[in-house]
Amino acid sequence: MGKSTNTGEMILDGLKTLEYRGYDSWGIAIKKGNKLEVEKKVGKIGDSKITLGNSEIGVGHTRWATHGGVTVENAHPHLDCKNQIAVVHNGIIENFEELKKELIKKGHKFISETDTEVFPHLIEENLKKEGFASSVRDSFNVLKGLNAFVVVYAVSKEIIAVKNGSPLVVGLGKDGLFISSDSIGLIKYTRDMFFLKDNQMIILGEKPELLELPGGTKLPFSLERIDWKIEEVSMGKYKHFMIKEIFEQPKVIRKIASEKDEIGALGKVIKNSRGTFFIGAGTAYYAAIAGAYFFSKIAQKHVNTQPASEFNYLEDFLTDESLIIALSQSGETIDVVEPLQRAKTKGSKIASITNVLGSTIYRMSDYKLLLNAGPEKAVASTKAYVAKLSVLLMLAYSMNSEIDKASEVLLKAADEIDRLLEHIEDIKRITKSLSHTRDIYLIGRGLSYSLALEGAMKIKEVSYVHAEGFAGGELKHGPIALISKNTPCIVLAPNDETYGAIMSNAAEVKARGGMIIGLSYQNSSLFDHFIEIKDIQEGSIIAQIVPLQLIAYFLTLLKKYDPDKPRNLAKSVTVK
Ligand code: AGP
Repeated sequence: MGKSTNTGEMILDGLKTLEYRGYDSWGIAIKKGNKLEVEKKVGKIGDSKITLGNSEIGVGHTRWATHGGVTVENAHPHLDCKNQIAVVHNGIIENFEELKKELIKKGHKFISETDTEVFPHLIEENLKKEGFASSVRDSFNVLKGLNAFVVVYAVSKEIIAVKNGSPLVVGLGKDGLFISSDSIGLIKYTRDMFFLKDNQMIILGEKPELLELPGGTKLPFSLERIDWKIEEVSMGKYKHFMIKEIFEQPKVIRKIASEKDEIGALGKVIKNSRGTFFIGAGTAYYAAIAGAYFFSKIAQKHVNTQPASEFNYLEDFLTDESLIIALSQSGETIDVVEPLQRAKTKGSKIASITNVLGSTIYRMSDYKLLLNAGPEKAVASTKAYVAKLSVLLMLAYSMNSEIDKASEVLLKAADEIDRLLEHIEDIKRITKSLSHTRDIYLIGRGLSYSLALEGAMKIKEVSYVHAEGFAGGELKHGPIALISKNTPCIVLAPNDETYGAIMSNAAEVKARGGMIIGLSYQNSSLFDHFIEIKDIQEGSIIAQIVPLQLIAYFLTLLKKYDPDKPRNLAKSVTVK
């Protein structure tokens, strides 16, 4: 909202920047006099234009479907019966069915299958007895679940936003007041931002007001300066964000190799912790697995590792001595937020390694470490995974007061990745041999086990080819039954203690007709294709992921899919 009257265009532009977070459908509502004009579409924004008129106030949303299919009716914004209240929403209203029943009894008509649509009708009901701000406050206070809302009311000059659990950030710029679920959406208009905390409501008007819920007491707030540059969130010379972010990895690693003080401080906390747990989701969980190996091998430090979504069911033994180390690129993954909230109630300490300043997980942590990898916009995480491995390696060595050694290893890894990126045509050629395969298996042992899992994740999530990563030793306990003639198997064989055993596993696959792609420091007659990864100690582990990322990327291009916005996925999963 503010001085410019092309609010609709500005919102559409902002949605394009945020579309990587969810892209099933999108919609915009603007205030025109005492009415709302709304436009909603299914599918990605792409080069869409809007036909909405001029306005100074508006709201928009790009959706990742939770309740209700991908239809125009289910797209946000959602309206009340009089089409005067427009609401956009991230999260899940867990008690929406009972609220909807009550509202229908009062005569409210619903047109969508979503949980979201109850909120504008709740506000409409409350407006019969109180003002706009208190109607939003009282409507929010009856909801269950983790949600963030932005509300426009056609007869008000204010925009109201309210949240618990799902992120919201306010930007105060020269062209007006802005609000978004991610600072990336605002960076074009302002760097001065304020991150709402849970159970806070902000009234954006002549003079913005911050209120504490449920009561509504006024709170002071101060702005933070976000220093991301706009080019970091644009594609530049690259065709996709995924390949851009793969190429940014050496720079990210070199930066981390120089951040000894911050990392060393967290290393001390971890070294002295008892009952230490790594948690993360998806790729972040695979990084956690690598972290547990680094900590054990380098610092003889035992750390438990769990997928964040499972940690909910394992928290009974947490104590006020426990330390949970949460890994999350977005800092918003609800599967991580929820167990952390529960752990805090037990007095456990939280350390987080995230990539977004001011994110929910960042703010709820006792110890905070930023990956400083720059915005990662491709849904498939690449540079953030490598950044996590790099930080975890530095942390492991810091526990032995050998952080300088970690820096040396990381600098070698960055050089090796630069070398690999000079040979991407070789990897592109090898990928062609996979273009018609139905399944791809990846095996690794020890530190490479995490890479096997992560490589499989990359391949499956962007090319939709079924890929599975296994611990090499596990293959013969069942999965080897899946190997038949020409079944591709990518073998991760660095020059470490796992080399002999993983090569035996490669031989077992070969003996059953498998086609072997070997990532190793030396070639072998077992390999049908060989990708050299120079021997740079633990640095080889980090460099190994790059050919797997590139295979995933090139396979996706061969299949003519979009590597940045794969189907069914979103960059940040803020719903359970
Ligand atoms: C990674 O390529 C996937 N997009 C996904 O597994 C992702 O890592 C996971 O959703 C966790 O996200 P976070 O790191 O932002 O918490």
